[in-house]
Amino acid sequence: MEHGQDWRASRLLGNENWTLRRGEQVTLRAAQAEDGAAVRGMVEGLSRESRYFRFLTGGRVADEVVEALVAPGARGMALVVTAPAADGGAEAVVANGQFVVTGHGTAEFAVVVADAWQGQGLGRRVIGRLLQLAQAAGMRRMRGDVLSENRRMLAILRDLGFSCRRNPEDSFLHEATLAFGTAGADTVTRLPAGWFGAR
Ligand SMILES: CC(C)(COP(=O)(O)OP(=O)(O)OC[C@H]1O[C@@H](n2cnc3c(N)ncnc32)[C@H](O)[C@@H]1OP(=O)(O)O)[C@@H](O)C(=O)NCCC(=O)NCCS
Repeated sequence: MEHGQDWRASRLLGNENWTLRRGEQVTLRAAQAEDGAAVRGMVEGLSRESRYFRFLTGGRVADEVVEALVAPGARGMALVVTAPAADGGAEAVVANGQFVVTGHGTAEFAVVVADAWQGQGLGRRVIGRLLQLAQAAGMRRMRGDVLSENRRMLAILRDLGFSCRRNPEDSFLHEATLAFGTAGADTVTRLPAGWFGAR
């Protein structure tokens, strides 16, 4: 089922307009290669803590890592959340989420929200969409590595049903996993039209 599959997130996801808690309008959509510069801009603007939580570095994030945020390879999907520029210029990317298939029906995911946009429900919603995409793509489980000090991320994931365990080989990391049950590979064929937009 995974082989020869169309891994473009745009196949499963249209543009979704969301209103955030403070009233700002943002759009969630599939990431495109052309989003690379805007995603680099978001990454450059991250606080040291956010950069460390997402990329395990306080320094410059390598170009290939940023490229993978919008083009996660032959078997993966990526999302961006954009906001209109205040001055009418190019839209800004304010959040990114992506997953890659690491084998045996497992999708490994990560997410980041620009600091000024955190705490408004964006991270939770992006993770929710990643879960739906991974499930629709036939994945059996989602997993991610989270720094043990990243209380916010661990709280969100536990709330979404993930099991979060301290990595026995590295106490700085927690492993978060969520099994999708038996729905598996056939789910996508059973999704009603508008399924993503309705949630
Ligand atoms: C982690 C991250 C993705 C969360 O996104 P976000 O948009 O800020 O989070 P949300 O607004 O969706 O959710 C916040 C939730 O976290 C919880 N939370 C917030 N601060 C918390 C804290 N200090 N301790 C515990 N839980 C906390 C609350 O339960 C809150 O839930 P609510 O929606 O009911 O208020 C975002 O903060 C981020 O990008 N951080 C830096 C990069 C990172 O850590 N990425 C994850 C790498 S694995």
